Amino acid sequence: MNIFPAWTNTIRPHLVLGALGAIVYVTVVITYGWTPKTLYRGYQPEQPIPFSHKLHAGDLAIDCRYCHSTVEVSAEAAIPPSSTCMNCHARIFPESPKLELLREVTLSGEAIPWVRVHDLPDFVYFDHSAHVRRGVGCVSCHGRIDTMEVVYQHEPLGMSWCITCHRDPTPHLRPLDKITDMAWTAPSAEFGAEFARANGIKPNQNCSTCHR
Ligand code: HEC
Ligand code: HEC
Ligand code: HEC
Ligand code: HEC
Ligand code: HEC
Repeated sequence: MNIFPAWTNTIRPHLVLGALGAIVYVTVVITYGWTPKTLYRGYQPEQPIPFSHKLHAGDLAIDCRYCHSTVEVSAEAAIPPSSTCMNCHARIFPESPKLELLREVTLSGEAIPWVRVHDLPDFVYFDHSAHVRRGVGCVSCHGRIDTMEVVYQHEPLGMSWCITCHRDPTPHLRPLDKITDMAWTAPSAEFGAEFARANGIKPNQNCSTCHR
């Protein structure tokens, strides 16, 4: 007995193609859409050296700008070269096995192969200095880095995330000398709005601000 009527014979090849297409489609969506690389909260790649922000930025209270030295003057925040680490680790824990790779690259002159955590698509323009010089602190976009043993992506970094703040940045504004202070809280509910008024802060929402 035939379950399917005879006419289905002619569409069978199409069904097979359709099924194959669906498999390819799902694979593409999973690989490009679901990899946490760019837009997903919580992305936390393993790093080649067990460098802890909790220890260095939290317990030792080293300012973010000691290592991310270009964050106020350029688009990129700059990952520190191994020489910055050696300022201390030539003397502190000079034999630590955890710092073996650091000693190796210092001798060879190569860079430490840190794995990027945050990475916007290339068609998006982002600029750190435009934010930190206008009163948006690191914690608004990166969370409590000073409590992270291993850095992870704290915010979604999608277009709607950017736009939501560009529409109303006032809850995120702080005095410029508190930019790297992770624990700062506003003295009053009006602080942000007053700061924005006093400094003429009005983020752009034109497409060309972020897509140029
Ligand atoms: C002693 C040097 C040092 C200090 C101080 C420091 N960082 Fe870092 N930071 C690094 C290094 C090295 C990396 C790359 C390895 C990693 O991701 O942990 C990094 C990575 C990061 C990343 C992830 C970059 C990426 O790949 O997307 C962020 C965000 C960050 N730091 C923010 C901060 C903030 C905010 C502070 C201050 C609270 C701070 N850092 C203090 C050295 C430092
Ligand atoms: C301002 C000084 C300073 C700088 C700069 C610094 N460190 Fe450290 N680091 C320390 C101190 C102090 C400790 C030890 C804290 C303790 O456990 O007593 C430490 C501990 C460590 C440890 C743990 C070592 C172990 O055996 O437990 C690692 C790994 C490390 N640092 C990596 C780095 C890297 C990578 C950099 C550069 C991105 C760096 N540090 C920059 C001061 C510094
Ligand atoms: C308005 C949000 C925002 C603020 C404020 C901000 N960052 Fe970022 N940060 C980002 C985004 C978005 C990226 C990814 C940039 C990319 O992929 O081009 C990033 C990337 C980084 C990186 C990786 C290197 C790079 O430039 O791509 C480091 C390190 C970093 N931030 C540190 C900091 C520190 C330190 C502060 C405070 C002084 C800070 N950020 C303030 C949003 C922000
Ligand atoms: C937490 C708030 C906040 C978030 C999140 C944020 N921005 Fe901004 N952005 C601002 C503020 C505030 C300014 C400064 C506005 C001013 O100077 O009047 C600014 C300025 C900018 C500028 C400079 C504009 C110019 O006219 O030169 C660019 C580019 C920019 N943002 C892109 C982005 C992108 C891309 C994202 C998302 C990845 C983003 N921003 C996320 C608050 C934010
Ligand atoms: C404040 C920054 C900002 C502004 C303003 C902005 N975008 Fe975006 N846009 C982004 C970011 C960040 C992404 C990447 C997010 C992603 O890959 O989903 C993006 C992604 C896109 C994409 C890729 C598809 C998608 O959603 O991922 C398109 C298309 C786009 N933007 C169009 C526009 C248009 C049109 C405007 C003006 C009406 C605009 N954008 C304004 C930040 C911005």
